[in-house]
Amino acid sequence: MIEVDDLWRVYQVGDQTIEAVRGIGLTVAEGEFVSIVGHSGSGKSTLLSMVGGLARPSRGTVRIGGVDLWSRGDAFRSEVRNGMIGFIFQFASLIPTLSTVENIALPHLFRADGSHKAVHEEARELLVRVGLGAKLDSFPNELSGGQQRRVAIARALINRPRVILADEPTGDLDERTEAEVMALLLAATREHKAAFLMVTHNMSIARAADRMLQMKDGILA
Ligand SMILES: Nc1ncnc2c1ncn2[C@@H]1O[C@H](COP(=O)(O)OP(=O)(O)O)[C@@H](O)[C@H]1O
Ligand SMILES: [Mg+2]
Repeated sequence: MIEVDDLWRVYQVGDQTIEAVRGIGLTVAEGEFVSIVGHSGSGKSTLLSMVGGLARPSRGTVRIGGVDLWSRGDAFRSEVRNGMIGFIFQFASLIPTLSTVENIALPHLFRADGSHKAVHEEARELLVRVGLGAKLDSFPNELSGGQQRRVAIARALINRPRVILADEPTGDLDERTEAEVMALLLAATREHKAAFLMVTHNMSIARAADRMLQMKDGILA
């Protein structure tokens, strides 16, 4: 489902060249959970952004479901992202002026197959599933860090993505919430036969994966 080949990302900052990702190859199958663990600055977020179609590789290919993500234009990539990829960012990045239901529904109000009502219904169901049934009309600033994180997960799962990408998904959470969040992501992975790729510096959640890889200085070990 995810195929990465010889992927590079080089940043040019003034006269300094930073090779953040250096020739990574990687595959994640349907229904498989792969974690990448590495210290801060090892290139994890850069790698995940390229796999998710958010940052252009300097070199190499990313295939999602056999489709070459970076070979075509932005409109095509948006389509793949909306249709196939659920991205959980390092920070929950919710829109402060929208309720939890609206935060989840918004990106999907424009899709062809659903009425506004159906999309809102789906958003509500997902929020109940992630344990936020009592917070449907709350705003992000009325939620704890863990609750905001769960909204972000519901937002990533609403289109039943074939690919789930998570960057430090439990970054600011206590251990119990961390376990809940991981259980949710794993259930979605198995249920939808999604390919789940997570990057983190947290060894204890990385160990839950089917395969755990280590990243160091832009390279997988
Ligand atoms: N936009 C950017 N411009 C310049 N350098 C960057 C940028 N993003 C990341 N880097 C550098 O690339 C390296 C990898 O960063 P990152 O992918 O964020 O690592 P990680 O997620 O593992 O902490 C670091 O040295 C970082 O400073
Ligand atoms: Mg990072």
